[in-house]
Amino acid sequence: MTEWMPLYKELEQYGNSDYYPYHMPGHKRRQLGDVPERILKTDITEIDGFDNLHQAEGILREAQDSANMLYGAEETFYLVNGSTAGILSAISAALPESGHLLITRGCHKSVYHAAYLRKLKLSYLYLKNVKGFGFSEAVTAEQVQEALRRESDIEAVLIVSPTYEGRIADVKKIAEIVHEKGIPLIVDEAHGAHLGFAEGFAPGACMAGADIVIHSVHKTLPAMTQTALLHVNGTRVDRDRLKRFLRIYQTSSPSYVLMASISDAMEFLKRDGKRYFADFRDRYLRMLDRLGVCKVLQVVAAEDISGGRQDIGKLVIGAGNRRDISGQWLYDQLRERYHLQCEMAAGRYCLAMFTVADSSEAYERMEQALLCIDEELSAESGAENVGSGDHLMSGIPDKITLPEVRYPFSAAWDLPWKRERLGDAVGCAVGEFVNLYPPGVPILVPGEVLTQEIYEQILEYLTQKLNLQGLIQEEGEYYIRILRQ
Ligand SMILES: Cc1ncc(COP(=O)(O)O)c(C=O)c1O
Repeated sequence: MTEWMPLYKELEQYGNSDYYPYHMPGHKRRQLGDVPERILKTDITEIDGFDNLHQAEGILREAQDSANMLYGAEETFYLVNGSTAGILSAISAALPESGHLLITRGCHKSVYHAAYLRKLKLSYLYLKNVKGFGFSEAVTAEQVQEALRRESDIEAVLIVSPTYEGRIADVKKIAEIVHEKGIPLIVDEAHGAHLGFAEGFAPGACMAGADIVIHSVHKTLPAMTQTALLHVNGTRVDRDRLKRFLRIYQTSSPSYVLMASISDAMEFLKRDGKRYFADFRDRYLRMLDRLGVCKVLQVVAAEDISGGRQDIGKLVIGAGNRRDISGQWLYDQLRERYHLQCEMAAGRYCLAMFTVADSSEAYERMEQALLCIDEELSAESGAENVGSGDHLMSGIPDKITLPEVRYPFSAAWDLPWKRERLGDAVGCAVGEFVNLYPPGVPILVPGEVLTQEIYEQILEYLTQKLNLQGLIQEEGEYYIRILRQ
């Protein structure tokens, strides 16, 4: 029996061996352009001894089994096309074609793409805003219960936890409610591959009873872009169908470099996870504590972390009560003056991400920059203070306008459309998504009607110069795709 070796080491050893590659990839481990030979040497395909992702029985099966043990899942699959491939596969496997799926309205576009491909009927959970910031809370168990009571033919539920901004749902309670109906719960835990690895972090959704959980390893763990995992538990989702859809949505030439990166992250968790995560939590909480002196800027409260509502690592920096500064302004200040590149900016906040891989420098630089900006802002005279500031928030308005669905989304995206001036399109069904970025919450989904109220909401977002996608701007005029029928 050969000695067990991490996947990356296996690749390295093979790359340095005297086996000549009469096989793909075509670079044959030689540097003919700028990508260094060191990288090319580990980039192989499914050759002898290296197993097959779509029918894993050897080293890839072992690597996947090692991941499921870490997360407490019955079975785990490596994904090389991000959580996107996992979400497409999970939804496709969990429901029949034309099935009925309950989702949070602001979920990732891959959920909508799965619904389109599988002709699903969608019902939505609308989320409340986090007070003072303008991004969505996580979904509550009560919201899920109410929706399932209202619509008895729902066949699966998909929720997002943690959200992009780090809000965490009570997955255990939601799983119980969903399972009472005998249907599966899919948790898009793309932002939570790090959960459950030390005290202070919420438990992961696998442990909380979800049927399928999807992780972007690349988002919050030390791993390369595109790496992800799909975990499955129980029998509510047919595993053969799931594997079939993974084969359909994933490449037949999965990158071993990416798979080695997943395996590397899993080995890191096993070997050093507890220690690194405890350290990460302590440093992060100390930084939050020191930022508590800010007079103008707001960060999500430490009580939200101890109360299990907010994840560690997603530093949401809010503009507080100041009308004259925006999330984009904060983002630009941090980038231009301090060379701190944040993850994103929204109307009233920007988001900086911290992970186990951050050194003390990351905390010090952010803390100093924010304290300095805050001091400057609080010293300014005549700055406009507008009370809670909640009415200025971007994202989902607290007063939610339920859209009127004229055509089911999955059919509407394929219907003939034409361009119409935005103002003249009121009363028409739209042919394209209108999304507010980030984080990409759909204001209108194809097939929904642009009402006067939604039109006014869109005008408000445009006045605030928020990033609305799905509109066409030409010579100072906004246009939108409307359905011809
Ligand atoms: C909530 C959520 N789910 C899924 C995804 C897709 O993840 P990936 O980029 O790994 O495909 C994203 C990406 O940003 C996301 O924010």
